[in-house]
Amino acid sequence: MVDQMKTLDDYKKAYKNSVENPKDFWGKQAENFVWYKKWDNVLDWNFNEPNVKWFEGGKLNITENCLDRHLDSRGDKTALIWVSNELDGEDKKYTYRELHTEVNRFANGLKSKGIKKGDRVVFYMPMVPELMIGMLACARIGAIHSIVFAGFSSQALADRVQDAEAKMIICSDFNNRGAKKIPVKAVVDNAIKMGCTSVETVVVHKNTGAEVEWNENLDIYLHDLTANVDDYCKPEEMDAEDPLFILYTSGSTGKPKGVVHTTGGYMVYTAYTFKNVFQYQEDDIYWCTADIGWITGHSYITYGPLLEGATTMMFEGVPTYPDAGRFWEIVQKYKVNQFYTAPTAIRALMAKGDDFVDKYDLSSLKVLGTVGEPINEEAWIWYFEKVGRRSIPIVDTWWQTETGGIMISPLPLITDMRPTFASYPLPGIQTILVDTEGNTIEENEVEGLLCVKHPWPGILRTTWGDHKRCKQTYFSAFPELYFTGDAARRDEDGRYRIIGRVDDVLNVSGHRIGTAEVENAINETPGVVESAVVGYPHDIKGQGIYAFVITKGKISDEAEFKKLVANTVRTEIGPIAKPDIIQLVSGLPKTRSGKIMRRILRKIATGDMSNLGDISTLLNPEIVEEIKRKAKNK
Ligand code: WTA
Repeated sequence: MVDQMKTLDDYKKAYKNSVENPKDFWGKQAENFVWYKKWDNVLDWNFNEPNVKWFEGGKLNITENCLDRHLDSRGDKTALIWVSNELDGEDKKYTYRELHTEVNRFANGLKSKGIKKGDRVVFYMPMVPELMIGMLACARIGAIHSIVFAGFSSQALADRVQDAEAKMIICSDFNNRGAKKIPVKAVVDNAIKMGCTSVETVVVHKNTGAEVEWNENLDIYLHDLTANVDDYCKPEEMDAEDPLFILYTSGSTGKPKGVVHTTGGYMVYTAYTFKNVFQYQEDDIYWCTADIGWITGHSYITYGPLLEGATTMMFEGVPTYPDAGRFWEIVQKYKVNQFYTAPTAIRALMAKGDDFVDKYDLSSLKVLGTVGEPINEEAWIWYFEKVGRRSIPIVDTWWQTETGGIMISPLPLITDMRPTFASYPLPGIQTILVDTEGNTIEENEVEGLLCVKHPWPGILRTTWGDHKRCKQTYFSAFPELYFTGDAARRDEDGRYRIIGRVDDVLNVSGHRIGTAEVENAINETPGVVESAVVGYPHDIKGQGIYAFVITKGKISDEAEFKKLVANTVRTEIGPIAKPDIIQLVSGLPKTRSGKIMRRILRKIATGDMSNLGDISTLLNPEIVEEIKRKAKNK
């Protein structure tokens, strides 16, 4: 098991050591795992290429470390508690031994369909145990999993399947979500029709049992795939730098890119951060409410907790079904010790009133966490007072799909807390702030662009099929630095407060959405000439999506047309990217070189019309008045 810091002094020593001797520091953590062959070199790196290699030459399998190595000491310990969507539903528990068997059987099933090391397998599944079992089964045989959040549309799914050239898709028939039953297999069928020619097999998990269309050439039920397989599958020997998974995420330009994480470094980093940030103790029950379709679910529902032999939970449903007390009902029922969720959920529950939280016994809680977006002070205080009953530390964890694990976070009862501050970088994380020219900002109490100057084991290695894009996106803004895309402020004691993205990426309910992606989708609507999308502050979602749309000629039924635009976005990307506000305009403010002046649109979307700056240099300054007049947020 990796080291666990216990005191402020431990943290200070670990941090100092990790900066002065990063190889010693991480080499020592890595020694706590099972390696079939030890690494030759802890770290080799160059941010210009970029080329980062951790534990080069080391051979391992991450599932050996998540499962097999716990069998002797924790075989009968609960590894996974799965909580059903229904209040009176049948929850499920898996011991480490049971989970091991399930993963091995699934892995043998995959092999029987010809899946082997390096093949890509896409998952499009709700929060069911089979998703966790399936991802681990891939890791067992060295196949690269790519999990697509099951709220994305067929088109978005097809884009990802094609980019990854996946050989297999694994899905469910239907998804139970709150009061709804959502078709899953039908979305996959549609994606296949869009030309996912690399796909040879679609594995269908019978979830609700409802009828689905069947394609004899491709489809097989999961229970048939694993009907006659062995309970044991020898783990594939992986190189530390062999890819473990691809996870698609939105950027400021073009289509989502496939962030690639590799085996050894990701393993060490997720285990270390899990154990320290949540201060996990052997008998604790840990619950992260994220969806496994996002990085938080990868690192802190599946890998981090299982690597540390924890009891991890997975919840099928939504926080407001059957009512806004559901999270707290679950915390009470399972005596949850660490609870990790997103600010958007906290704000949504806060809006439903205190009664839902007051009536439950939450005395088991020891640590509360948040992730995914800046938490506003009001939500932080509500979380602290109502959920934490003023006595439990909150860890506001800042990190990204690309970072693999938590980077900046308080350590509960070890470092201090300041509301809305993610606080201090974890050991191994050398954060700096730079100005727009790339000069390091030494002083505190100022705002800057957040960068990291030294690799940590969980850093992304490339973007799938396009290494140049990885360099361009993360390593080109400033030489020798990893650029996060976020702005941050450092206080007088060195705590960081994350301000938010400085690129054209929105953060809607903790989901990353590129404005370019939404614009491309809107532009697919018949009758649309051009569009511009910006974010604006939204009480629950953090950011809402505001779309300015130029139409061809006059639209007779504006309401109907806006519905059409919204539906196109839903079809192209998914409901999470649907604009909250659509304003039809006759033009967009542009510079003389034809660039849309988003700065002006952002201000208008925010309702801050007073000081739009100098607009006289625009190609069409008169358009600003028109847009202002009809703006929705005044
Ligand atoms: C934002 C999620 C403020 C940030 C793990 C980052 C946060 C983006 C925080 C990554 C936080 C994440 N405070 N902002 N605690 N955590 N963010 O890739 O803008 O889905 O760049 O990873 O979310 O989102 P992603």
